[in-house]
Amino acid sequence: MTHAEAAHRIAQLTKEINHHNHLYYQESRIEISDFEFDQLLEELVRLETQFPDLLKSDSPSQRVGGTITKEFQTVEHEYRMLSLGNTYTVEELSAFDERVIKGLGHPNYEYFCEMKFDGVAISLVYENGQLARAVTRGDGTKGDDVTANVKTIRNIPLSIKAANVPVKFEVRGEIFLPIKEFEKINAEREQKGEALLANPRNAASGTLKMQDSGVVAKRRLNCYFYQLLGENIGVSKHDEAIHLIESWGFNVSPTYKKAKDIDQVLDYIEEWREKRFSLPLDTDGVVLKINDYDQREELGFTAKNPRWAIAYKYKAESAETELLSITYQVGRTGAITPVANLAPVQLAGTTVKRASLHNANEILRLGIHERDFVFVEKGGEIIPKITGVNTSRRKAGAPPIHYIEHCPECGTELIRKEGEAKHYCPNSQTCPPQVLGKIEHFVSKRAMDIDSMGTERIRALIDQGFIRSYADIYDLEQKQSELLGLEMSQDQYEREATGLLYISLEKALFALTEGISFKQIQDFLAETAHLTLREQLRGFQGQIRAWKKKVPSNVGMIDYLLQNLDQHADLMKVEDYVPVAVVLEIFLGRRVSFEQILEASKKHGTVHMILLELDLDLPSEIQERIKKLKANTFQEGVISNMMEGIFKSKEQPFEKVLFALGIRNIGENTAALLAKHFGSIEKLQEASDEQLLEINGVGETLVTSIREFFAQQENLDHISRLKANGLKFEIEQREEKVLGNALAGKRILASGKLQNFKRDEIVDFVQAHGGQYISSVSKNLDFIIEGEEMGPSKKEKAQKLGIPLISEEEFLKMVEG
Ligand code: IVH
Repeated sequence: MTHAEAAHRIAQLTKEINHHNHLYYQESRIEISDFEFDQLLEELVRLETQFPDLLKSDSPSQRVGGTITKEFQTVEHEYRMLSLGNTYTVEELSAFDERVIKGLGHPNYEYFCEMKFDGVAISLVYENGQLARAVTRGDGTKGDDVTANVKTIRNIPLSIKAANVPVKFEVRGEIFLPIKEFEKINAEREQKGEALLANPRNAASGTLKMQDSGVVAKRRLNCYFYQLLGENIGVSKHDEAIHLIESWGFNVSPTYKKAKDIDQVLDYIEEWREKRFSLPLDTDGVVLKINDYDQREELGFTAKNPRWAIAYKYKAESAETELLSITYQVGRTGAITPVANLAPVQLAGTTVKRASLHNANEILRLGIHERDFVFVEKGGEIIPKITGVNTSRRKAGAPPIHYIEHCPECGTELIRKEGEAKHYCPNSQTCPPQVLGKIEHFVSKRAMDIDSMGTERIRALIDQGFIRSYADIYDLEQKQSELLGLEMSQDQYEREATGLLYISLEKALFALTEGISFKQIQDFLAETAHLTLREQLRGFQGQIRAWKKKVPSNVGMIDYLLQNLDQHADLMKVEDYVPVAVVLEIFLGRRVSFEQILEASKKHGTVHMILLELDLDLPSEIQERIKKLKANTFQEGVISNMMEGIFKSKEQPFEKVLFALGIRNIGENTAALLAKHFGSIEKLQEASDEQLLEINGVGETLVTSIREFFAQQENLDHISRLKANGLKFEIEQREEKVLGNALAGKRILASGKLQNFKRDEIVDFVQAHGGQYISSVSKNLDFIIEGEEMGPSKKEKAQKLGIPLISEEEFLKMVEG
């Protein structure tokens, strides 16, 4: 590419990337995937590296991060960062207003109202139109310099293009993590078994203090600006300043409004009391500020706060309701989360029926007894929380909540690891939600990519015993005939304490009759819900006549059902449900004994599985009838799709298979790294701790995870079964290009940015010339190719070990002779 072509392409990419950033931040829309976005960015970085003179300081590439800050520099603020006084009541607010009137000597002023954003305060200093520094509030006088991290926030201007921009100015605002991003991060953390972030504000503040700005760039922080400072800025009112910074490209929340007096402020407060929950971030109140700068000066400051501004904080709304029960959810990592089921109650504009209880300690701390009346609050967290118990309403003799000791899904005794608050189900191999999580990961796009196996299908296959681990997926091919007609959901079934399976009455009536829709049956049952089952069925016969659906068999079928229910009256134990065996007897009675049907219906959870066990040759008419008892079922198209996906997945390369195994802490990148380094699963398994640690990016935790994984016999069995099924457990021998042997016997590492090679290319190049590429600094190296911006710590280590550093040029000469 020529210089001119590169300049053209860089301009194009810059425009395109800025366009997508604008869409994302200003319009909450996306037109391309994250992956596509990253590709544009990568291309830009590549071109700018190749043509360094074309790199502009405000290029979007400057936001990808990558710098490591070990310790943040402390910087003094030019203007102190004050805090605001807080008020919680109308009276306190009126008192503030009176002080303002008194201070000014008249009531001719305007308030500028805006929301109080719950994030992290930041100050940005611009010099000559360029972002010079970003500093946290700290103690108000000095804060931490977090410029490298702030630069990664894609809608913070790195330079200002407008006319008449002051030589130096400062803007202040609040950095926040949008609630949606926060939820996404936590969902990912949950899946990886990592501790969850407490709330969006903590997440934002933690992110801002991360050492690796590359990681910060991946979290979509955002910022609202609310203050402009500097000498000779040319505005005399706050609203003018806000419009000005908005025109310079700063993000301003559209929630502001001017108020002529305190009554209009109160209107604003009311307007946003509920509406604020639809904003993309948490807010905890309203800030009102005198709009006119001269008036601000007249009013001045107290020791801590301005006299011209104050915050009104909404009280976290609280409601009292009854605790109905506690459900214990088992996450994909086996972590148990207790959830309170509450009598529905109105809170902050929504009906609350559930609240998180976090863990056993929380239940103890709150001292909850069964059926207690509890207080729920909606604060900074998204999920309402229980903040206390109204003990005066405690029912006599109500026992304290007894935390479960066994997994509600698989019955295994729960454990609690030292220092951890949560209980865990240790049965990672067969506990259904844990198996589901593992299999979902296994089939996911970035692992084995079997997209025809969605969650519902996997769950159906697990629940009905077809798969117990990901290795079983590859045995499904032999079970295709059993899958046909398999039920996808089990909502219509109930299982009674003795294990007997029941089916909803509506499904039973639907299958027993013809020409009557499911909806008609549901409506009829709803209308007659107050009657006994017998009365309902008699009434239904009358209704069949009224509907003129008097196919002779319809009324007769209901007679038959009534007779059968009488005969098995001892089995009628679940309201609105009938035993599956009683219904099936009507269809199958002449072919098989009731006892056999009964036995099978104790063993299995769906009609499909019962029929598989009974193994009868049924005429198609009866098969059609029985189909109406079932839920959605697997049909031929779905099955062949799945089989195709499963078959194709065998082509996935080793690194994907390694990632799919779900070894703790092995993400996609680590899997690729390990696959490349060791070449096969055996070599990885045999690797010593030292060999593992030698790899850049492998630490103690990962070594432990790898050891734990291979120590479990089940995992080894899964691997050997997957291998037998043709999955790739070694790296494909790429056609090794042999270009020469100038580097024979040499152990080489490259560090920093190279002019002529990308990361992968230098590895291939070294190997193609007979050398060995080593990925970390160790005494075994013959030399290091020193690229641009080689890390100082690496350099120091190399010098200590006496390893020669050579330039890229010298290296090329060495190879090319
Ligand atoms: S104006 C003199 N406006 O609240 C102080 N602050 O307690 C001027 N905050 O440090 C601050 N939203 O971090 C202002 N719309 C808003 C705000 C806001 C949140 C934070 C800010 C400040 C703290 C003051």
